[in-house]
Amino acid sequence: MAEDLVDIVVLGASGFTGKYVLRELLKFRNPAGREPRKIAIAGRSKKKLAAALTWAAAAAGAASTSAGRTTTKDLESSFSDDGAPPVVIYEADITNVASLRAVCKKTKVVVSCVGPYRKYGQPVVEACVEAGVDYLDITGEPEFMERMELLYHEKAKQTGSLVVSACGYDSIPAEFGVIFNTQQFDAPSVPNSVDSYLVLESVGHNIKGNLGTWESAVLGTANMADLQKLRKSRPRRARPQLNLGSDQQPQMLYADSRTISPGKEPDKQVVTRVSGPEVGYVTTPIVCIQAALVMLDERKHLPKGGVYTPGVVFGGTDYLQRLQKNGLTFDVISTTKI
Ligand SMILES: NC(=O)c1ccc[n+]([C@@H]2O[C@H](COP(=O)([O-])OP(=O)(O)OC[C@H]3O[C@@H](n4cnc5c(N)ncnc54)[C@H](OP(=O)(O)O)[C@@H]3O)[C@@H](O)[C@H]2O)c1
Repeated sequence: MAEDLVDIVVLGASGFTGKYVLRELLKFRNPAGREPRKIAIAGRSKKKLAAALTWAAAAAGAASTSAGRTTTKDLESSFSDDGAPPVVIYEADITNVASLRAVCKKTKVVVSCVGPYRKYGQPVVEACVEAGVDYLDITGEPEFMERMELLYHEKAKQTGSLVVSACGYDSIPAEFGVIFNTQQFDAPSVPNSVDSYLVLESVGHNIKGNLGTWESAVLGTANMADLQKLRKSRPRRARPQLNLGSDQQPQMLYADSRTISPGKEPDKQVVTRVSGPEVGYVTTPIVCIQAALVMLDERKHLPKGGVYTPGVVFGGTDYLQRLQKNGLTFDVISTTKI
């Protein structure tokens, strides 16, 4: 029964990033004037998950916690009673398909923080698609994303599973930065070229990343040939022209895009900027959890099913406004007639 389903499960909540994602989710557990959200966490170690929940609850400012209170054999409650249902803990291992299917049966939206995704991601996507359950993740691994689209898009359309990868910092500010920039043009005028770049600024700290992120980056670079092979195997499609560059320094996200409107001759240039807090463990949880909440709150207005990018799914919703309310800033720097 739909009302018995958990709203959101965070798979891999015991991981370094997963616990920050959980912390962010807990802040939205008890929305004013609405039904409390039913939340679960899943992974292979209940003990680690309970510890992550205790940490995240305290960090999110929850009143009190009581980690480890078992309610049924496979169901554990370990959260304070602030009027919202207890957070449920499921045991699930990506090498055990039955355990993933069991989680999918009980859930509306699966948020997967289990990476590197090229190693661990596919069974989770497959279980969600088969069950017709919505899925999102924080991967920055293009080969994984494109392979999932190739393998599961048609099936996901049939089962009604919405699969949205790349709901992390390295994709959302870029994609929604372009959407924001495009919104500065009056229809039917649209941008015909975008330059985008990323600057990470230090605010008194060195940049830090966890091993899981490092491994994902190393594997992605080491296996670039797989991505080229995958792309060559598919029919070519028209793509917008997008020039990307990056200049990495510690802390703070800061991204600009420049756009020129079309016509016989380009006549307008708009410079916009997206900025926000620390990228990996503050911005990523914010953009990921807001995506999950849109999936829940605005499901009727989203595509019925399929494998899509965040911009396709969330571009027509209030997602950008939600990001602005939660710590990201979208600014118009200049508008110039040329
Ligand atoms: N796009 C972005 O901005 C962004 C930012 C941060 C992270 N990420 C990505 O997020 C991913 C996770 O990074 P991380 O640093 O958090 O890694 P991590 O600390 O190693 O966490 C990995 C998680 O996966 C779980 N896991 C591993 N094998 C599993 C299995 N067989 N079954 C079930 N769960 C399993 C781990 O569970 P155990 O606790 O039981 O080991 C842990 O919860 C990486 O791919 C990283 O690139 C992306």
